[in-house]
Amino acid sequence: CERKGRAAVGDGLPPVLKIGVYMPMTGDTATFGTSSMGGIRLATEQRNAAGGIRGSRIELILEDDRGQPEEAKTVVTRLVTREKVIAVLGEVGSARSIVAASVCQQKRVPMLTPSSTNEKVTRKGDFIFRVCFIDPFQGEAAAKFAVQDLKLRRAAIITDVKNDYSVGLTKSFRESFTRLGGTVVIEKNYQAGDASFNAQLTGIREAGVDFIYAPGYYGDVGQIIKQARELGIRVPFIGGDGWDSPDLWRGGKEALDGCFITNHYSVDNPDPRVQAFIAAYRQRYGDTPDALAALAYDGAQVLYAAIERANSTDGEKIRDALAATRDFPGVTGTISLDANRNAVKPAVILELRDGSYHYRTTIHPSSDQ
Ligand code: PHE
Repeated sequence: CERKGRAAVGDGLPPVLKIGVYMPMTGDTATFGTSSMGGIRLATEQRNAAGGIRGSRIELILEDDRGQPEEAKTVVTRLVTREKVIAVLGEVGSARSIVAASVCQQKRVPMLTPSSTNEKVTRKGDFIFRVCFIDPFQGEAAAKFAVQDLKLRRAAIITDVKNDYSVGLTKSFRESFTRLGGTVVIEKNYQAGDASFNAQLTGIREAGVDFIYAPGYYGDVGQIIKQARELGIRVPFIGGDGWDSPDLWRGGKEALDGCFITNHYSVDNPDPRVQAFIAAYRQRYGDTPDALAALAYDGAQVLYAAIERANSTDGEKIRDALAATRDFPGVTGTISLDANRNAVKPAVILELRDGSYHYRTTIHPSSDQ
């Protein structure tokens, strides 16, 4: 809704608003960066075409952190100190966001991550926000679905031990699954980039489980599942949002048939707002937006709406406006930020079949969360 006495060009804002973005544009999780930039660019172009923010034009300054936490720290420091951006969007991978959040908090520049789900990210301080749910909920959603919908009781878990996201999801899944009556029979570890998962998978095969929880990123998970099928393991894998990439299917589509993931959004959602976004994205890029693109689209809009309300480039004013975000109508759901600067939203369960994702069900956060 329009505020009274709409401001003339500029108002409290300079003609150009510099927004810093850091993403993994290259490296092991490059599709995360590409998709996120698709969403951020679309939101920004639409907003600029509609007059920008109170007449001021948004300019994006993008840095590639190559998916490396140390590089994220370097590039975000540059965005904040040299480019003097008024706010920062990024990253996807939680390990990168955690490191960069420390920089933004210290420099008192608001940072909004569209998609980093690890709890530690927004704990870095009051300048750090996200528009996605957090992993204590995501792990619980996977456990609930396995026990209540699939009626599976015996789980193996395979974790990327150096990845905050994977470790956090394993913890929350294990706790919830056990509380719901399931048994974690065996747990194995790997490190991103490993070539062979033979030892871990052989152990899991001998243990005889109903399914395997694999909260990792798409590159490794694609390989793990491919190798599991080669070893004769037929049980489903269940994973998280980190599987969401067009490159997940590289090891072959059939290996993934009957697997499930928790995620933030489904292209099957008939909501007109969601379908309008998908149509606009397809028209712009010739591609269907994944969850990263959708979250980034929402994240950019939430930030721009906050800057508009703040009517200022001052970090504290933008922070306060972001913190006041309530009932923002996103394509990934309605976004209200809680006292910990996290969004509280449902998760969707997607089934993998024939090389694509199919909506299965929605898991809502319980009221005690
Ligand atoms: N939630 C993941 C993380 O924190 C990132 C991610 C989000 C990946 C959505 C894919 C889709 O590391």
